[in-house]
Amino acid sequence: MDELGFNKIAAAILATALGYMGIKELAHAVIHVEAPKAPAYALAIPEAAGAVEEVELPFPQADWIAAMDANRGARVFKKCTSCHNAEKGGANGTGPNLWNVVGAPAAQHAGFNYSTAFQNSGKTWNYQSLYNYLERPTKYIPGTSMNFIGLKKAEDRAAVIEYLRLASDNPLPKPDPAPGPEDLVEAAPMDESTVINETPAVEAPLSTEAPTETPEMEKPAMETQEQ
Ligand code: HEC
Repeated sequence: MDELGFNKIAAAILATALGYMGIKELAHAVIHVEAPKAPAYALAIPEAAGAVEEVELPFPQADWIAAMDANRGARVFKKCTSCHNAEKGGANGTGPNLWNVVGAPAAQHAGFNYSTAFQNSGKTWNYQSLYNYLERPTKYIPGTSMNFIGLKKAEDRAAVIEYLRLASDNPLPKPDPAPGPEDLVEAAPMDESTVINETPAVEAPLSTEAPTETPEMEKPAMETQEQ
């Protein structure tokens, strides 16, 4: 093949890759701005035009529940102990004592002076709300006085929530898993032009040409290292 021909092909591949990255970036931005509630998974449902559909899975997925590791949670909780303790009858500090917090309405711990934002939030601390709150407290309850950046890793949030779940007179049961990617792929409309990979979609890269690196939010499997 002459050199020019090769360059044309290389340019075409590059353009495809850039286009792909653009779509992905855009989709990611939308998900971040509008619905940062649960991990977003990219399901590979190629369409005729080659567009990639981002589907947000319902919360919690089985791998999230598997990441509810109280030992890891105890380590993560060290980030909280400058302001909180989770002992029965423990004192309030900069933040309220967190015994019995999972399942309780927000701003209910006796003797703590909560922010107005917290008192008016109308929130109850279930798995989903804690998961969202702990990712970015000031975003979930704007005006909160919890001056903490948040826990970026979903595994850390799952783990610390498990730690808090057990810090209770009457721990709530662990949550049941929501429908997973397999269920969603099965539910997706299919015709001859739709090719769905044999492997579960979340474990497969979006496309063989695509950059393999995936942003944090889209990581399908939550590997709980450092057991
Ligand atoms: C810099 C201090 C600080 C740190 C660090 C901090 N918090 Fe808080 N937290 C607060 C304050 C203050 C409030 C009350 C917020 C308000 O009234 O707006 C709060 C509220 C909460 C609540 C709601 C309690 C209730 O009674 O409604 C939870 C749950 C919570 N924090 C968990 C955590 C966890 C888990 C961590 C660590 C990953 C953490 N916090 C780190 C200060 C902190």
